[in-house]
Amino acid sequence: MQHLIPIASGKGGVGKTLLAANLGIALAQQGKTVVLVDLDLGGSNLHTLLGIRNSHPGIGHFIYKQAETLEELLVETPQQRLFLIPGDGLFCGTANLPFHRKQAILKQLPEIPADFIILDLGSGTTYNTLDLFLTSSAGLLVTSPDTTAILNAYSFLKSAMFRLLQRSFPAKSAERHLVLDFLQQKMEGSSLHIQELVTRIRGIHPESGDRARDALGQFRPRVVMNMGRTAQDIGLGGRLRKVVQDNLKSGIEFIACLPQDEMASRSPLERSPTLLRYPECPYSRSIAHCAHRIIQEPAPPPAPLFEDDQDLQELAQRFESLL
Ligand SMILES: Nc1ncnc2c1ncn2[C@@H]1O[C@H](COP(=O)(O)OP(=O)(O)OP(=O)(O)O)[C@@H](O)[C@H]1O
Ligand SMILES: [Mg+2]
Repeated sequence: MQHLIPIASGKGGVGKTLLAANLGIALAQQGKTVVLVDLDLGGSNLHTLLGIRNSHPGIGHFIYKQAETLEELLVETPQQRLFLIPGDGLFCGTANLPFHRKQAILKQLPEIPADFIILDLGSGTTYNTLDLFLTSSAGLLVTSPDTTAILNAYSFLKSAMFRLLQRSFPAKSAERHLVLDFLQQKMEGSSLHIQELVTRIRGIHPESGDRARDALGQFRPRVVMNMGRTAQDIGLGGRLRKVVQDNLKSGIEFIACLPQDEMASRSPLERSPTLLRYPECPYSRSIAHCAHRIIQEPAPPPAPLFEDDQDLQELAQRFESLL
């Protein structure tokens, strides 16, 4: 069974692409077949972090109908069992992804034959990025301990949940109109909560209310805290959890804390993946551990309760032992 792992962030530059490349390598080293897909349209650089030249057809070819399937774009990488579908680096203007091509990508992604299909996304909350993130209920959201990054991570989750509700109902349905009206009101300064929206959807039809509740309940993205310098930085993850719990009534799981590591910033300049060049550095060891956890639990359990920050405390202990 394939598992899709989209990797997103609210703020840019927090380490998504480095994570995608190295997590792919770690999963492949642990025996899994992995396909990395560069879906950072307009900003693709995953090939660079894998040490591959930008000369292969990629997503841009698919978008402009010069390739019929995503599968035909697969490129081998320096790591056995790891393949890449390059981005749109050979084209301009694909940031405006036409609707039908987006639909074709969303349809074909789960059909790629691999154990894990990792999507490196652009930062921010455009509908394209949100829709790619919603291809799985267990995507990875990357943040750094920086306050702006944490607030942007919260905004990303909020936008993803509203988009999820919107897409849970057919176009032109009363439910979808309600979500759009609700978003409009929020933009105008109302403080209505997402749970209030679910209640209103239930007012249209009880079954619709159940569908909205189930969609939100199954949405369980996992958070990666990257560029941590001290165990206290990990504690900042607790702030993200609290704001998500208070405002979105949703729990989040922290799956990894990756240290700020000179080897991680150096290896891209050397055009080789961190895990292959510096397999013993703290960043590489944390990535290998994260891959191991993902293999053991490819999708998080339906309703974890982490109110006592147990996951964060465990990550803080591991983190201290690494440094
Ligand atoms: N844990 C880390 N320690 C040190 N440097 C890191 C770490 N993680 C990422 N970096 C460095 O930070 C820079 C940005 O990383 P990366 O390109 O992966 O971010 P991104 O989130 O994909 O950015 P964008 O939003 O532009 O796509 C790179 O130079 C990378 O090497
Ligand atoms: Mg990137």
